[in-house]
Amino acid sequence: MRDTFLSFSPPAIGEEEIAEVVDTLRSDWITTGPKTRRFELAFRDYLGAPGALAVSSGTAALHTALVCLGIGQGDEVITSPLTFCSTVSAIEHTGARPVLADVEPDTLNLDPARVAEAVTPRTRAILPVHYGGHPCEMDALRDIAGRHDLQVIEDAAHALPARYQGRLIGATANPVAFSFYATKNLTTGEGGMLTGPPELIEQAQVVSLHGMNRDAWKRYDQGGSWYYEVVMPGFKYNMTDIQAALGLWQLKKLPAHQQRRREIVALYDQAFRDLEPLELPAVRPDVDHAWHLYPLRLRPGTLSIDRAEFIRQLTARNIGSSVHFIPIHLHPYFRDKYHYHPTDFPITLDAYNRLLTIPLHPRLTDQDVADVVDAVREIIGGAIR
Ligand SMILES: Cc1ncc(COP(=O)(O)O)c(C=O)c1O
Repeated sequence: MRDTFLSFSPPAIGEEEIAEVVDTLRSDWITTGPKTRRFELAFRDYLGAPGALAVSSGTAALHTALVCLGIGQGDEVITSPLTFCSTVSAIEHTGARPVLADVEPDTLNLDPARVAEAVTPRTRAILPVHYGGHPCEMDALRDIAGRHDLQVIEDAAHALPARYQGRLIGATANPVAFSFYATKNLTTGEGGMLTGPPELIEQAQVVSLHGMNRDAWKRYDQGGSWYYEVVMPGFKYNMTDIQAALGLWQLKKLPAHQQRRREIVALYDQAFRDLEPLELPAVRPDVDHAWHLYPLRLRPGTLSIDRAEFIRQLTARNIGSSVHFIPIHLHPYFRDKYHYHPTDFPITLDAYNRLLTIPLHPRLTDQDVADVVDAVREIIGGAIR
């Protein structure tokens, strides 16, 4: 057994990021400024996105996008129950009603058939979440959106970089929200990016910074003007140059980090393929998976222990793990407000009861991976029916 605890998802920060942050701290500009701009442009070019705005979190990116599209009181937005709470809270904050539609059994992504059933005359948008980094069925979702004149806002918190039909998520002309939270494939500690068409990005700049029609950097820079106008009650969602300093290097390292994620996934696939109690993450044809998460599902009836005990035994063997996610409709706030029952979304509920996510990050050594594999095999060996 390992003698040190294997963290579930520590950040992969190197000396380059540290030096860049120090450079920012030694400069005269630490909040939104030249490095944030450079990061936005580099990110935009990397994805081939029409435009990009760096913000303080993935949640801020989602909220800003919804506000820019004019979504609010009386509107409905369809999204997944198997997501982090902030996807749904962002909808709540606009005053709109989040409407949940169940997921597909293999990818655990929003099921277009369930989305089509959930559309009402009040529906304004669909908000698919690329669960774990596997792209949603965007053609089918865009088709529904087209038929009902709906907006599509993607939650790509896990989907950097992922491809759907050869095209990077974020390269399309609709708003897409990325997260740079500490565990994500690219991290700025906290942070996020909104991609979308230039007009939307311009509007998002105003919405995300006090509703001001010019940003501070432009005001205080040489040749800038002291004058600005507030055109709406905006938010304080800007990214700082300290965060962007991290992002600039994290973006450069992303291809190498992704390569390591794919190697680890291949090792896990190989090691677990023959284990009857494990359902491995599905990959559909015509996608490139971002491999943010490696979620396993325990097959019902194959083990004498449940998921909670499985996790307890992993922890006892010094292996960190997690569960993605506690479904939205089971959380007291959403459950009570919208009178949900656990079985309202049966695929999500079934997945939740069996899901556990094992470590997947570029800092894992082959020995770490072997330790995870050994621990999983041992636990199964002791509990197989
Ligand atoms: C699916 C999903 N959406 C949105 C978010 C929110 O991102 P952030 O933490 O950057 O606000 C997260 C996680 O953090 C997430 O996992």
